[in-house]
Amino acid sequence: MTAERLAGRTALVTGAGMGIGRAIAARFRDEGARVVAFDVDRAAVEDAVDELGDRLHAVVGSVASEPDVARAVDAAVAWTGALDIVVNNAAIARAENPPLEQLSLTEWQRVLDVNLTGTFLVARAAAPHLRIARGAMINLTSTRAFMSEPDTEAYTTTKGGVVALTHALANSLAPDVRVNAIAPGWIATDAWKPRGQRHPPELRPIDHAQHPAGRVGRPEDVAGLAVYLASSDATFVTGQVFVIDGGMTTRMIYAP
Ligand SMILES: NC(=O)c1ccc[n+]([C@@H]2O[C@H](COP(=O)([O-])OP(=O)(O)OC[C@H]3O[C@@H](n4cnc5c(N)ncnc54)[C@H](O)[C@@H]3O)[C@@H](O)[C@H]2O)c1
Repeated sequence: MTAERLAGRTALVTGAGMGIGRAIAARFRDEGARVVAFDVDRAAVEDAVDELGDRLHAVVGSVASEPDVARAVDAAVAWTGALDIVVNNAAIARAENPPLEQLSLTEWQRVLDVNLTGTFLVARAAAPHLRIARGAMINLTSTRAFMSEPDTEAYTTTKGGVVALTHALANSLAPDVRVNAIAPGWIATDAWKPRGQRHPPELRPIDHAQHPAGRVGRPEDVAGLAVYLASSDATFVTGQVFVIDGGMTTRMIYAP
């Protein structure tokens, strides 16, 4: 049996109701942490806590709402007396938007409010507690911060913003708090949906084969990296972005 790497720590994981955030919450629990699972989807986050057990505590609300964010941070501190780890994972995770000429200001703003401003709001509210704990923050960006498909302006911009916000925070909160970002590539999240909505991912052989690692990613892959970044193994690591994409962004593609 290996030692629990986050024993005694308290974590706040946003967007923990499903997908990558739920897998991070589960893995943090397995590593000994208590986890406040914060999500706007009540049914999803209550299902996560019901499934994962009493080391999790659900808070329903939006990362884009200052009062909701304050409630989530307060809940962590009231529950355990401290906040050691924050994972800014919640996002409107769909990359595609309407073609540029049809992309409304309302839609652009909606994506920025959740994905970028939400990360700022959680970071700001958590900072005093993370400083006391000499804790760690992990922000979810994307390989789309560095490369694009057409019609992805809003999502892509937020993920580029999260990269910049990460190194800004790493310097502002130094030396008390380490702040790093994870940039996943293609992660199939179907197995981490709420119970009753799960199904095997519908993936073609070519989907796997185009990755140098030979497969599409899983939320567990990202959760393993998050544990490392939150743990005492990473005390000399801050302000960085860690790409986890099975090597996909290292492969040159020329038309045949
Ligand atoms: N899955 C991928 O391939 C992939 C790739 C790169 C980056 N990412 C990033 O990883 C993170 C998780 O992605 P995912 O695929 O697991 O997404 P997902 O859609 O499966 O889960 C996102 C969760 O965030 C919650 N959420 C959405 N808006 C919220 C809000 N305003 N307040 C609180 N919670 C909110 C949702 O309810 C949901 O539970 C996101 O930041 C995403 O941009 C995912």
